[in-house]
Amino acid sequence: MEKIVSLCKRRGYVFQSSEIYGGLNGCWDYGPLGVELLRNIKEQWWQSMTSREDVEGIDASILMHPRVWEASGHIENFTDPMVDCRECKARFRADQIGDAPCGSPAYKGRRASKCQAEGKFTEARRFNLMFKTFIGPLEDSSAAVYLRPETAQGIFVNFLNVLSSSRQRPPFGIAQIGKAFRNEINTKNFLFRTREFEQMEMQFFVPPGSDEKWFDYWKEERLRWFLSLGMTKEKLHFHRHDPLELAHYARDAYDIEYEFPFGWGEIEGIHNRSDFDLSRHEQYSGKSMKFFDEQTKERYTPFIIETSAGASRSFMAFLVDAYREEEAPTADGKTETRVVLGLHPRLAPVKAAVFPLVNRDGMPEIAREIARAIRPHFRVFYDDSGAVGRRYRRQDEAGTPFCITVDSQTLQDQTVTVRDRDSMRQERVGKDGLVPFLRAKTA
Ligand code: GAP
Repeated sequence: MEKIVSLCKRRGYVFQSSEIYGGLNGCWDYGPLGVELLRNIKEQWWQSMTSREDVEGIDASILMHPRVWEASGHIENFTDPMVDCRECKARFRADQIGDAPCGSPAYKGRRASKCQAEGKFTEARRFNLMFKTFIGPLEDSSAAVYLRPETAQGIFVNFLNVLSSSRQRPPFGIAQIGKAFRNEINTKNFLFRTREFEQMEMQFFVPPGSDEKWFDYWKEERLRWFLSLGMTKEKLHFHRHDPLELAHYARDAYDIEYEFPFGWGEIEGIHNRSDFDLSRHEQYSGKSMKFFDEQTKERYTPFIIETSAGASRSFMAFLVDAYREEEAPTADGKTETRVVLGLHPRLAPVKAAVFPLVNRDGMPEIAREIARAIRPHFRVFYDDSGAVGRRYRRQDEAGTPFCITVDSQTLQDQTVTVRDRDSMRQERVGKDGLVPFLRAKTA
């Protein structure tokens, strides 16, 4: 993980939030390459959902009526057990003490589980994870609102609006991508558990009785999505929640877990939420959330199958999965270690880099002209500094799938070399054919 965190900073993927002020715990900023990778992940997800005729998209607001969170059960249930170490004053999630390091620098290296065993922890208290703020100038309880801890509720409360405006009928889904906020007691593992993150959620409304079939369907569909973007099959598995693990709304749940360097971790949850959400919103709002089926003349509360992926956690899983170090030949016949981010071309932030082999004989001018011609179609990077081998290595590490080099032959026949990041093989392509070439390779 240390190598990946350091690459993220070096190449402009992820920076610590407010770094010049010492950083803000649990918050991260995406740099020039990171923002492109994140957008590409979200775009792939959005396409996979909304290109279907049975899924509509929405973008709901982050602040919602406070009653939403009473109905959803978050006020009552969205809590973690919290304990304090009386000695070092550090705060822990009681169910995640494990061998977390306990405390202040004076206690560095001490394991929390040991402090617990020695009775240094306070009794566990319930801590609600929702961030509270206030609407308007008065900071009293009547003005309190919450930053949403999941995007799902924005979909549930819009169920009737989407139903009437889009002419969909169950089974159909509503997809949304957006920020969510959780005041996590302990943030950890880089982007894995943060206080501000993005979710990509789809809620699929189905007639009761067909929920198990759709649950199985979406479970497989979501695993397929990660595989289709090149994630290693052996590093993914399902974890089924046992009854004690199930969230308050879930009748059945599977996590898609990825094997990170620190162990298996959830990147997406697939939940059978039954009719819990619509029934609760019906109860709390007084509005009927039932669907009347004109064909069968039945009135029912749809069940919901939820697919809930973290965009930021998926980002980290794609990065970890893409990272590799391998031996590669150098120009003088030796070998060196090259670091490669083997991101799927659809996800890669920059699709091609363009180099002049040397900075003379008109090569930089031709290379710049090629970069200019490609730029309206793909993100492209121009680089003319240092030996060409070094330039290749920089792009390998940034995850750029293709490097285009203008050399002396270009001056003769208008072709350039295109080097493939993964195989390092080079082929000659006519410079006017580069856009269709890249389109075919990155589709
Ligand atoms: N609507 C259901 C829901 O929010 P969840 O399992 O709590 O379910 C879904 O969260 C996904 O959101 C997780 O699989 C994870 O990818 C992401 N996620 C949750 N908490 C997170 C956090 N603190 N930091 C980063 N991602 C988080």
